[in-house]
Amino acid sequence: MRQKVIYLFVLAAVLASCAGDKVKYRIGVSQCSADIWRDKQNAELRMGAYFHDNVELKFAAAYDSDERQVQQIDSLIRNGIDLLVVAPNQVATISPAIDRAYDRGIPVIVFERKTSSQKYTAFISADNYEMGRVMGEYIVSRLHGQGHVLEIKGLEGSSPAIERHNGFMDAIKDAPDIKVVGSLQGDWTEPTAYETTKQWLAKNKEVRVDLVFGANDRTAMGARKAFSRLSPLSSLLTPLYCGIDGLPGENGGIQLVRDSLLDASYIYPTHGDQIIDLAIRILDGRPYEKETMLMSALVTRDNAKVLLMESEEIMRQADQLDSLHKKADNYLHKLDTQRVINWLAIGIIVLLVLVFVLFYLYHLRKIALQRERVVNTLWNMEAQKASPSPSEGGDVQIDDAAQNSISLSNKTPPPSEGLGEASPFLSRFREAVEARLSDSDLSVDDLAADMNLSRVQLYRKVKAVTGSSPVELLRTARLNRAYQLLLTTDKSVSEVAYAVGFTAPSYFTKCFKEEYGMVPGDVRK
Ligand code: FRU
Repeated sequence: MRQKVIYLFVLAAVLASCAGDKVKYRIGVSQCSADIWRDKQNAELRMGAYFHDNVELKFAAAYDSDERQVQQIDSLIRNGIDLLVVAPNQVATISPAIDRAYDRGIPVIVFERKTSSQKYTAFISADNYEMGRVMGEYIVSRLHGQGHVLEIKGLEGSSPAIERHNGFMDAIKDAPDIKVVGSLQGDWTEPTAYETTKQWLAKNKEVRVDLVFGANDRTAMGARKAFSRLSPLSSLLTPLYCGIDGLPGENGGIQLVRDSLLDASYIYPTHGDQIIDLAIRILDGRPYEKETMLMSALVTRDNAKVLLMESEEIMRQADQLDSLHKKADNYLHKLDTQRVINWLAIGIIVLLVLVFVLFYLYHLRKIALQRERVVNTLWNMEAQKASPSPSEGGDVQIDDAAQNSISLSNKTPPPSEGLGEASPFLSRFREAVEARLSDSDLSVDDLAADMNLSRVQLYRKVKAVTGSSPVELLRTARLNRAYQLLLTTDKSVSEVAYAVGFTAPSYFTKCFKEEYGMVPGDVRK
């Protein structure tokens, strides 16, 4: 029984867990940095995953550290990802870890920053050389072909830094009056740009700067802070600032251009959703582009307002989609819980039915045993003699036998067992009792008198032979007879009660239940 209960609960738990959705694809995302550009992209990656069933994303951010990124990639591989999406911090340093993933048969999408190895499945990015070139051309025209430019480069060894610089230099090559007065090493971060610019300014107090080209917007803003620290009051002396990234939203490049904090920026597309689509194509084994170039555009004072409005609208819709997804997620979660509850409820119901059935079977068995007992009892020697045992004959024969047993005239002692055989005295006692069984006033004194004994003698003898008192035996005899009558006649319970010497049917029922563990009505079931 206990085993069955445990089995039912295990079954319910297994079914409930089967009901939950299984992860189909595990995609590891290794980001070289953590900043607003990466935040936007990660949000898009998540959003992209919403559109595909059972995709799990595992994010890791290396905070511009090569060692950390290598460790994180190795750990993603160990955790059993199905595909790796990676933006390598630097071109060469991360390649061995990427190669390890690729060699294990894990497809690799390199995005935005390049690896020195050819071991990747697909590459997706905007054209960083083109970005630097377009920005260079813009700067030449903004300065009317004449002026001093201070460049602050991106992280040394990272492909966008190299390519943006190359594009920029190529663009200004044909403008001899554009002079690069300094080319400082940055690392994409604002604090580093601020520090390096500050140091440069300290050493180049006399050098005029008309424009600062930062490899990204944060770098340009770091330089701006350093300049405004030097000449906080004189906006005339401060140069123009150009950067790259052109992010939408609060303090993004587009807003900075609109608010004239930056002169221009270039949108560096994040397109996380597109990366996910590419990943799923690869994982599904569908055709895909090995190299994807993302389109982009310059942000200037002329278009910043419109771009900002558009990007805000897109962000608003993305937010709505996100909250819609959260609602759906919540709903699915509730549904899952409901499913578990349902299975548990079914388990409990089945269990209850099982307990009920077992209890009912036990009850029937008890009744059958009682019948057997009645037939074999002291007061039914004739029944035993006249009929096969219940196990041989079944109910009908028992009933017939019981019918025989109610003949009070049969005085032959039982042949083999029972108290009748044990003592002729008891046979006499039985006859005395049976002769007056329906007499409700029958007392032990009457019985003693019938047997020519004193009350005490009768008590002692009966007790010695049977272990019971005459009163107890009298009661047993009455109930025993009642049982037979119930089995073999159509008499009502009350009629039977009166027939065996009870004056109140309710008291009869109570005694009957005490004796047989069931109410008289149960005998006929
Ligand atoms: C973000 C970022 C951007 C930059 C790009 C270069 O982490 O620093 O600002 O354009 O990476 O890879």
